[in-house]
Amino acid sequence: MKKLTPTIAIDGPAASGKGTLARRLAVHYGFHHLDTGLTYRGVAHALLEANMPLDNEDMACLVAEQLDLGTLNQEVLSAHDIGEAASKVAVMSRVREILVDAQREFANKEPGAVLDGRDIGTVVCPQAEVKLYITASPEKRAQRRHREVEQKGQASEYDQILTDIIKRDERDMGRADSPLKPAENAYLIDTSEMSIETAFTTAVSLVDKALFE
Ligand code: DC
Repeated sequence: MKKLTPTIAIDGPAASGKGTLARRLAVHYGFHHLDTGLTYRGVAHALLEANMPLDNEDMACLVAEQLDLGTLNQEVLSAHDIGEAASKVAVMSRVREILVDAQREFANKEPGAVLDGRDIGTVVCPQAEVKLYITASPEKRAQRRHREVEQKGQASEYDQILTDIIKRDERDMGRADSPLKPAENAYLIDTSEMSIETAFTTAVSLVDKALFE
């Protein structure tokens, strides 16, 4: 291996499949994994629970400073409305600074780490050994999310999910601080017509090349 603690940076829009891919890569290489979306969701969740406004930056910073990455509960935080709230919290630069510091610390964990989010390759870990940008059409992503929610036995409206995904893309890609975009040296993987298995083997061959050749 070229470096002692390598980092795999994975970015992409909501429901692109980047989370599943990141988890599988972490297991495959025996690395730690951080879904950085959960850090923004954790702050949003705490604000919602305390009935606080989502746009009060001082308040959000206090919450962000106290966030413990070890206690982020994916089950609770995956709720659709928490995702919407998180993308509002994520436009505040001072909140981002605090969370990015914690994410960078995580990225240094031995023997290596996989981080997924929106700005990992561009801002959080620009020195990452390998950067992947996972994307898929908004319609495919809405279909997947719709199926996921239905499989949990919850009510789901495809049209509403598609509208929300398009709105979320606009917010994530259009914000001034750390907008979602592929890093210059990122490998693009479009999963619209790809199974998760094919996406995984494609990613493994790119990571192997970057880390071992
Ligand atoms: O990936 P997700 O749906 O859990 O992310 C929730 C929100 O958090 C997303 O709309 C934008 C924000 N986010 C971010 O700004 N930067 C990251 N690295 C990860 C997520």
